[in-house]
Amino acid sequence: MIALASDHGGFRLKEEIKEYLREKGFQVKDFGTDGEGSVDYPDFAWRATKAVAGGECQKGILICGTGIGMSITANKVRGIRAALCHDSFSARMAREHNDAQVLCLGQRVVGTGLALDLVRIWLESNFTGGRHCSRVEKIEQYEKEK
Ligand code: RB5
Repeated sequence: MIALASDHGGFRLKEEIKEYLREKGFQVKDFGTDGEGSVDYPDFAWRATKAVAGGECQKGILICGTGIGMSITANKVRGIRAALCHDSFSARMAREHNDAQVLCLGQRVVGTGLALDLVRIWLESNFTGGRHCSRVEKIEQYEKEK
């Protein structure tokens, strides 16, 4: 199950990503928002990201105008590694090196074609483990010191 969420600034792209994922056979849980009326991005980022942290969803995709607010909020959820990616190399590395469970995108930054490519690349890429395991574990250790 993939958690999806946006604010008003990411609503249209969220709908396009939802359609794309469903066409590809993924199950999607949409945490809103439901239209282009102004809302506060932390509310939507938080709910969707908690579903990933709690295991209800395996991955999450969050969209706002820039992706920045979504990524800042998602990274406040314990155990979550959220990556803001607007190029294909970063989308791949976010999985291979950082094991990011959440992808953040900015609707006002990238077009739909690139955004769907980023989603595809991020979903197709896997954590390579090895030396990256201890680095990811260190993030978890530092998080405990908060
Ligand atoms: C909303 O105007 C905008 O601030 C939001 O979508 C996002 O870009 C925040 O980081």
